[in-house]
Amino acid sequence: MQTTLFQILENIFRQAFNKLGIPETTPIVLQESGKPEFGDYQVNGAMAAAKQLKINPRELATKIVNFIDDDNIIEKLEIAGPGFINVTLRNDYLSTLICNNILEVHETQKHKIVVDYSAPNLAKEMHVGHLRSTVIGDALVRIFEYLGHSVIRRNHVGDWGTQFGMLTAFLVETQQDNNEVLIALSDLEVFYRQAKIRFDEDEVFANKAREYVVRLQAGDSEVLKLWHQFVNTSLGHCQQIYEKLNTKLIPSDVVGESFYNDLLSPMVNLLMEKGLAVESDGAKCVFFTEADLGGKAESPFIIQKKDGGYLYATTDIAAVYDRVQRLNADRLVYVIDSRQALHMKQLAVVSKKSGIARPNTVMEHAAFGTMMGEDGKPFKTRSGGTVKLIELIDEAIERAGDMIKLRNPDWSVEEINTLASSLAISSIKYADLSKNRLSDYVFSFDKMLSFEGNTAPYLLYAYTRIISIFKKAELNINDFENIPVRINEVAEHNLALHIAKFSDKLLLTAKENYPHYLCMYIYELAGLFMKFYESCPILRSDVEHSIKNSRLALAALTAKTLRTTLQLLGIDVVDRM
Ligand code: ARG
Repeated sequence: MQTTLFQILENIFRQAFNKLGIPETTPIVLQESGKPEFGDYQVNGAMAAAKQLKINPRELATKIVNFIDDDNIIEKLEIAGPGFINVTLRNDYLSTLICNNILEVHETQKHKIVVDYSAPNLAKEMHVGHLRSTVIGDALVRIFEYLGHSVIRRNHVGDWGTQFGMLTAFLVETQQDNNEVLIALSDLEVFYRQAKIRFDEDEVFANKAREYVVRLQAGDSEVLKLWHQFVNTSLGHCQQIYEKLNTKLIPSDVVGESFYNDLLSPMVNLLMEKGLAVESDGAKCVFFTEADLGGKAESPFIIQKKDGGYLYATTDIAAVYDRVQRLNADRLVYVIDSRQALHMKQLAVVSKKSGIARPNTVMEHAAFGTMMGEDGKPFKTRSGGTVKLIELIDEAIERAGDMIKLRNPDWSVEEINTLASSLAISSIKYADLSKNRLSDYVFSFDKMLSFEGNTAPYLLYAYTRIISIFKKAELNINDFENIPVRINEVAEHNLALHIAKFSDKLLLTAKENYPHYLCMYIYELAGLFMKFYESCPILRSDVEHSIKNSRLALAALTAKTLRTTLQLLGIDVVDRM
């Protein structure tokens, strides 16, 4: 991979540190500068290094600065306070940097990454709880692919276990009663509720349901057929949502819990043989020490119940086996609710200790917080029920439509509808992605559809404004993406610098699984573009031709950076709004 701007600067300073006898282990502490008056970057490591060498920090900083004098990268180095070094980059350097395919970033170390995401329970319809996993996971998939990794999507749907015995038994009953299975299944929530009532009220039915579970797990073809019928209908509902949300998930990404059925008993045997699992009250469990879990040992991992049944944990162990031993993945990213943190930690420990995962297999829990309503409580319908995801999406589309109609009264219904669904989906996704995934997130239609703040409408609108500059001048924006930019003004410098940071931001996002880094990046990009646009006229008649072209090039590059980053987040740009 080409070295990033950050890496280039780090190398320059590391060399200077080395020459001055500062140990390799002493950090340079290179940071983006917080304020423009402190330059573009700051190096704050001189103070700690001076302490180690027992010399005056300002003196050491001066030596570092004096050492770096022959560079065509750095414009200015200034020493501030006790020994901070402020770094300002050269305009011509930034210009070459951004005009050199700055958006093409490839990771040198290619990995095979499994992203486990979405994963609804098929017994019911997708609800808002599945939104975050779907949206965050999909962004991570796009980001990893962009960087050149080989990515495997895994939709680990819940399609196995006792609930499915109940549901197939109920399917038989409804089929006998009337032949309207499809109608019954059109609303899975209702279907599930009715089945549950039957299960709770009628002992005969409950026994039938239990018998179906056993037959299902034994591979009885008659019960499997019913189960397939149910699961396929439910998956159809999911696929509809994935398409509406414009996610990359396709039916073949669905590798649900049922897939691992045959691996469950071998996994238990393996863990028993290794002495990692032991019998406890008839169940088979893996116990942990405090050291294993970095804190309290808490509860064990139960992998087989007293009655022989397997659990969520067993399936996840089998899935690790499949992903590492058969698919040869070396990084597993699980986009799952924070409330499963203990489960994920336990899974990682068991997988590593047993050798099911390899010592170098990276297992990461890309955890996320709960989706809350504006009242600060978990997001619910007015009557307190769970909100179906499809209803939430449809409401967002409706609201976006109303808003677009108000802004553009002369648009045709078709134009309004097309933009409404695109804008609604973008807004739903961006609102989620722009928050640190670890925090609980307050869902608000008004906020996410607002044109102000770090929102999809704001960014998409910023993009259309750049497009309109070219439209107005009757120029093709693509013609300007590769022509050189000449930087003279501060606003041009700041905008170019920000574009030059793209690869650093993208790599960090991929490393830490934090899409909000990229959101912050484009939000700042849009702001810097506005400042540039205000202080550096482009189309005004008195602007010299070469300056005009250079500014158009910078605008085109900004648009491309915005578009590329939004696409990495699963958001399509629009040309007007
Ligand atoms: N189906 C689970 C749920 O709805 C999520 C599964 C996540 N993936 C996994 N490998 N455990 O909570």
